[in-house]
Amino acid sequence: MSKSKSGLSQRSGWAADQPIGFLMHKALAHPELVSLAAGFVDQASLPSEATRSAAASLLADGERARAALQYGTTNGDPMLRRQILERLAAADGGSGALDEERVVLTPGSNQMLYLLAETLLDPGDIVLCDAPSYFVFMGIVKNMGAQARGVATDEQGMRMDALEAELEDRAAAGELGRVKAIYVVSYFDNPRSVSLAAERRGRLVELAKRYSREHPLYVIEDAAYRELRYAGDDEKSVLAHDIDGQHVIYAGTFSKSFSPGVRVGYGILPKSLLDPLLAIKGNLDFGSPHFSQRLISEVLRLSLYDPHVELLRDVYQRKQTAMLRALDLHLGQKGLARYLRPHGGLYVWVELVQDIDTGQHGKLFPLAVEEGVLYVPGAYFFCDVQSAPRSCMRLSFGVQSEERVEAGIAKLARAIERAVV
Ligand SMILES: Cc1ncc(COP(=O)(O)O)c(C=O)c1O
Repeated sequence: MSKSKSGLSQRSGWAADQPIGFLMHKALAHPELVSLAAGFVDQASLPSEATRSAAASLLADGERARAALQYGTTNGDPMLRRQILERLAAADGGSGALDEERVVLTPGSNQMLYLLAETLLDPGDIVLCDAPSYFVFMGIVKNMGAQARGVATDEQGMRMDALEAELEDRAAAGELGRVKAIYVVSYFDNPRSVSLAAERRGRLVELAKRYSREHPLYVIEDAAYRELRYAGDDEKSVLAHDIDGQHVIYAGTFSKSFSPGVRVGYGILPKSLLDPLLAIKGNLDFGSPHFSQRLISEVLRLSLYDPHVELLRDVYQRKQTAMLRALDLHLGQKGLARYLRPHGGLYVWVELVQDIDTGQHGKLFPLAVEEGVLYVPGAYFFCDVQSAPRSCMRLSFGVQSEERVEAGIAKLARAIERAVV
């Protein structure tokens, strides 16, 4: 067996070189830059009042307070798991194959994504992802020594013809046994704020079932941004199409819709995955912070949650409008860029009309820093960075005020104009 000289595990090597590291570094070293890169949520609207009321109520009774301050169970607080299911059933128009036993609480949904990868993946395995997709998840897959492969998307999310072709190709190559999951961010995804079309959701489940020839092929539905909708009606989840409850895992979170600092997320799993995933979670933390779970449960019980989500929708819609207006003025009307006009989420995806490399070592990035603005190069969101499109970027309007969003876009436009000549 070969031993590395560093004494570090192979897994730690697979986890290294996160593309986002240099951006964090830049933002910390230059706090004066307007960061349209950070995926953080709006600071001013964080629910300090609602959290104070819920915490006071939770702590008012000694017995309830002490229960919340004790360890919880590995799968999480039963009351919050019930509340989550009730809300999901209301959003999806029925509870189908759902029951409370299928819900596992985690500190943010990212841990759920990590646990799923630990539970499903061996080195050499494959996960099919949107191209582009959430790069932290792609990093997790890589961390397991597995491979994330991109499937073509359009403005309606993952293309089902492309997914089917990819599954056929893997089957023809004798690799279907290595394809363990299909990962989609089904509502207002990261990085494009694109949602998977309603008519593709059932088809996705159908394909997962059809290609479960060697083992169950799971769909990981990441619904992190579901509640950040600013126009149109909510769609049924992919999970709602999984009638027998055997193929779809639904990952949700209170980070975007309430507070990422409280760190409560969850997964709804097929029963076959519960024991293996909980065994791993048992080794990791034998239960996520119980106090946070009880706090979110209290926020829901006291009806403090929905008014907050309403407020957030208003705040983000205004910021999104400010970003799109500034993009129209500085880039769109000058024919320099194309961008999507999403109905929710925290991001706008921009494609430059000219072929300008937006990457860290390209022409634009240093000019943008000189002008005083940061963005995330689009190539980072593709499984294969080498063959990714070069002239796109993700802009986030989550953190900055409307004025700073507008100022940031003006700076970005100046950098693009300088890069074009
Ligand atoms: C698509 C997506 N999924 C999951 C997460 C994880 O969020 P959390 O762990 O805070 O729930 C994020 C965070 O940015 C995200 O963008």
